[in-house]
Amino acid sequence: MEYKKLSSFSLLCIASLMAFRLQVISAHLSKEMNSRPPLTTHVLDISSGVPAANMSVSLYQFTNGKWDLLKESITNTDGRCQDLTSRGSIPSGIYKLQFQTQQYFERRNTSSFFPFVEVVFNLNSQQEHYHVPLLLSPYGYSTYRGS
Ligand SMILES: *[C@@H]1O[C@H](CO)[C@@H](O)[C@H](O)[C@H]1NC(C)=O
Ligand SMILES: *[C@@H]1O[C@H](CO)[C@@H](O)[C@H](O)[C@H]1NC(C)=O
Repeated sequence: MEYKKLSSFSLLCIASLMAFRLQVISAHLSKEMNSRPPLTTHVLDISSGVPAANMSVSLYQFTNGKWDLLKESITNTDGRCQDLTSRGSIPSGIYKLQFQTQQYFERRNTSSFFPFVEVVFNLNSQQEHYHVPLLLSPYGYSTYRGS
């Protein structure tokens, strides 16, 4: 009787320990999957209603009074650059995204009023994620802080 009690008790212990471990593992996995790069962008060509593919985009940081180039990227077929920063955090500071808009429109035989477009913004490393999209046409553009 005593032996049976003990063994079912230890089975219960093992089971709850395993359940706990599974919980820890799945919490870790979902955290991994939720982690996005701290900065992403998306360029939409609103003159043709499609994502702007193959546009050169560069990321700069403003340090000691000058712009340091951090990364050069190209938008994918969905108009997105997701390799601007690595996963993890990015130091707080002033950053700039430079979009090569004229080069993009030239490939479409369209002249662009903007040789390139620069978007300068503050970035706080405590914030989880920044999305800085560009809505673009040859004669106008807009941007905003997205999520
Ligand atoms: C993007 O560039 C690649 C390689 O230069 C080319 O094959 C592809 O057709 C281009 N796509 C667009 C939408 O311009
Ligand atoms: C741009 O113009 C050239 C020369 O007329 C032509 O060969 C090419 O197909 C045009 N490209 C586009 C995207 O319209």
